[in-house]
Amino acid sequence: MIKRFVFGKPFDTEAIINKPKQEEGNIPYFEKNGNTFSYEMDDKDIVWGLGENVRGMNKRGHKYTSWCSDEFEHSEEKQSLYGAHNFFIIDGKTKLGFFVDCPGRVDFDIGDTEYSKLYITIENSGFEIYLLEGSSVISIVKEFRQLIGTSYIPPKWAFGIGQSRWGYGSEEDLLKVQEGYRKNNLPVDMIYLDIDYMDNFKDFTVDSNKYRDFKSTISKLKEDKIRVIPIIDAGVKVEDGYSVYDEGIKNGFFCKDKEGKEFIVGVWPGKSVLPDFLNKAAARWFGDKYKVLTDMGIEGFWNDMNEPALFYSEKNKQEVFEHLAEYKDTNVGLYANFAMKDAVNLMANNLKDYKSFYHETDKGKICHADVHNLYGYKMTKSASDSLERILGKEKYLLFSRASYIGMHRSSGIWMGDNKSWWSHILLNLKMLPSLNMCGFIYTGADLGGFGSDTTEDLLLRWYALGVFLPLFRNHSCLGSREQEPYQFKAVDKFRGLLNLRYRLLPYLYETFIDSVKNNEMYGSPLGFVWTDDEDAKRCEDQLLIGDSIMIAPVYEQNATGRHVYLPEEMKLIRFKGSEIIEEELMGAGHNYIHCNLDEICIFLRKNKKLPLAKEAASIEDLDWKDLTYIEY
Ligand code: GLC
Repeated sequence: MIKRFVFGKPFDTEAIINKPKQEEGNIPYFEKNGNTFSYEMDDKDIVWGLGENVRGMNKRGHKYTSWCSDEFEHSEEKQSLYGAHNFFIIDGKTKLGFFVDCPGRVDFDIGDTEYSKLYITIENSGFEIYLLEGSSVISIVKEFRQLIGTSYIPPKWAFGIGQSRWGYGSEEDLLKVQEGYRKNNLPVDMIYLDIDYMDNFKDFTVDSNKYRDFKSTISKLKEDKIRVIPIIDAGVKVEDGYSVYDEGIKNGFFCKDKEGKEFIVGVWPGKSVLPDFLNKAAARWFGDKYKVLTDMGIEGFWNDMNEPALFYSEKNKQEVFEHLAEYKDTNVGLYANFAMKDAVNLMANNLKDYKSFYHETDKGKICHADVHNLYGYKMTKSASDSLERILGKEKYLLFSRASYIGMHRSSGIWMGDNKSWWSHILLNLKMLPSLNMCGFIYTGADLGGFGSDTTEDLLLRWYALGVFLPLFRNHSCLGSREQEPYQFKAVDKFRGLLNLRYRLLPYLYETFIDSVKNNEMYGSPLGFVWTDDEDAKRCEDQLLIGDSIMIAPVYEQNATGRHVYLPEEMKLIRFKGSEIIEEELMGAGHNYIHCNLDEICIFLRKNKKLPLAKEAASIEDLDWKDLTYIEY
């Protein structure tokens, strides 16, 4: 049962596709005090959801802020990452789903200030709230997913292995990656291009010094069944003579300040302007630009920096430098030192800047801060609309960094700039179900970690989770250790895990399609299924993938195994690389399972079977019909 409440005059986010009729009166179970809603939680209540964020599957005991943020440090104390996913479910004696449809800032205090209290505070005066009642968490997820519409489906090849790195600077670099994979007999389907391919970080350009014949390189790689996937950034370089800038200026398609002048910010190219994706004509215009690259044979993109991330605004940069000048000839002690550092740090992604520019929408001029959480969504929607026109439905790969619920119909997301930290394997595992609840099914993490230096063992263990994620991509930051699997002595071990990915794809792909078409979870917490089992409900480091298998990756360095909880009897299938070396029936309860660096343990549920394909060098080579089955 879904109830919809409307407050003030909300901006239509288009998150919901089938709006139920509006309810009058108060929201049941919740107390209202101004724009704050509160709920009294029982001690045992679990709060699932909020999509992409830090901390647990159970979100209780922390504060979260819905505000798309360029956050490069995913540490425990943070409250926001790149997505704004305002949906959660209270799972206790009463089971309730709650969705705040509002494109501005929303704060969730889930038992942080008071362990028994849940507070939701909404900054905008106009918003909608959806309250969903159901007999189980799963039924509420299904109801919600019906409300928000069917999730994005990429082409099959997008389930293959992808290799990325910020720093592949030239055609030679690209071909070296191809060679690294092929010479080492490693399967691969995609190589990603980061900002390095562009001419001076200008969207929809290719640096012709680095790529003498981009089109033919793309086509040569495609002959080898490898797709090249370039990045597109939100900011457009300010440069007379650069057609994207010139056309946007001529048509008034960039965001403007209070005085009606283009709002100038700093991103990769330095001075840049922000396309106004909330202006329908501007969005259509920017979307059409992707054709420059599809005409060269490109079939997939990743959209970045679309929170939008701001290194500075021209105005705020001037103010900071003036402020810093004051310290030049002074004795800089403790507080002055802090103040100087703060001034520099606050230059990026500053709220004052987000409040200083405007969008031209169907509803008139709107301040960015009131619709901030829609920026990445609308950028990506402009791209997907265009790619659907050019390449056709389900024929393009697209994922974005920033997102809002509703964008899940147009593209996937990746989990952003994680680090080569062991704790981030677990963080990425926990994010998957929260994202699935909000409709984001095509998702994955930067395997190996984006920031800092990875190690062979960390990458192997991360792959043991990555094998099960819909988006499989190894990506790393400029300046960090090179982390393609062939950079390591243990290349044989990597080969085994990569081959296993392809062997599992018939199961994983079917599970993916099933979760999209039937609004199911792809990766589910055990507590969604074993609803009366307290140990299952508190288990935060295992997942069900589809309805047949459970995974329990090792995420601690130097561990030779881990504790695994089995809510029911299951069959342990131990893979060494892509080959099964052991099958063993295991009773329900708490177990310790040994698992070497080159092994993956899968737990098969009773009366289920796991299909396995033969190994393949790419998705196109995969035989989806020639399968063997492991049964239990
Ligand atoms: C952002 C992205 C990262 C990318 C980098 C350079 O930090 O999140 O994936 O490599 O920008 O484009």
